[in-house]
Amino acid sequence: MLKALDRFRSKSKLIEKVDPNNLPNHVGIIMDGNGRWAKKRGLPRSAGHRAGAQNLKTITEFANNMGIACLTAYAFSTENWKRPKAEVDSLMELLLEYLHDKDELAGKNVAVRIIGDRSALSDEINHEIDEVEAYTKDRDGMVLYLAINYGGRQEIVRAVNQLCQQVQEGTLLPNQITEGLVSDYLYTNDMPEADLIIRPSGELRLSNFLLWQSAYSEFWFSDINWPDFTTKDFTQAILDYQQRNRRFGA
Ligand code: FPP
Repeated sequence: MLKALDRFRSKSKLIEKVDPNNLPNHVGIIMDGNGRWAKKRGLPRSAGHRAGAQNLKTITEFANNMGIACLTAYAFSTENWKRPKAEVDSLMELLLEYLHDKDELAGKNVAVRIIGDRSALSDEINHEIDEVEAYTKDRDGMVLYLAINYGGRQEIVRAVNQLCQQVQEGTLLPNQITEGLVSDYLYTNDMPEADLIIRPSGELRLSNFLLWQSAYSEFWFSDINWPDFTTKDFTQAILDYQQRNRRFGA
C-alpha cells in the first residue's frame, strides 16, 4: 500500500517544495471546527468529532512520513468538561476507541504519549493510555503527543506546586528556580518547544494550549474546519513556516 506521502506526491508537486532541512521539530495542532463541520452536514456534533479523530490519523501518518519529530494534538482541554454531558461522554467514548486502535492510530513507527491531568480520566481510558504508551515506546519515528484534559495554565500551576514543595522541604532554593527548571516540571519536559502551531476553523486564539512552549512559536491559521484539513493544507502550513524569519527576540 502506498504511504500517505507517496499518494500525495502523485497528486501534487507542493510537497517537493518542502525543505527537509528546515522542518519544524515540533508542530502543535488545535483540532477545531468539528462541530461546525457536522452542523453544515446536518449531523450530530459527535460525528464531527469522529471525523476529526479520523483526520488526526491521516495527518499523523503524513507528518511522520514528512520527517516531523514531534506532533502535539489538542484532543480535550481542561475547559472542555463545561460542554454538555452528552458531548463530553461521546468525546470520552471516542478517545477510548481511538486509543484502543493502537496500530491504526500510530501506524508502524509513531510513538504515542499523553500529556495532561490523567487523574480526572476514567480507569478504562487510563488503562488504554498505559497500553498505547507501552506498546509504542521503543518506536523511532515521530512522537505523537495527545493532549487530554490538558490546560497550559494547569500545567504551569502543577510545576509551581511541585517546585514550592521542594522549597518547603529545603531541597531547593528559590533562586535556583530557572526557566530550564520550570520546563523540566512541565508535562512536555522531553519535547522541544513548539515551532509551529496550526489552528484551523477561523478562530485566532491559543485557548490555553502549550502556553509556556509557544513563547516563540510561529502560528498558522485557516478557515478550514479540522475534519476538512488535508495533507495539502499541512504541507502549505510547513511551506509558510519555512518562509518565516525567526529571530527569537534577537
Ligand atoms: C473543537 O471542535 C475540538 C475539540 C473539543 C477537541 C478535538 C477533538 C477531536 C478531534 C476528537 C477527539 C480526539 C481524538 C484524538 C479521539 P469544536 O467542537 O469546538 O467545533 P466547533 O467550534 O465547530 O463547535
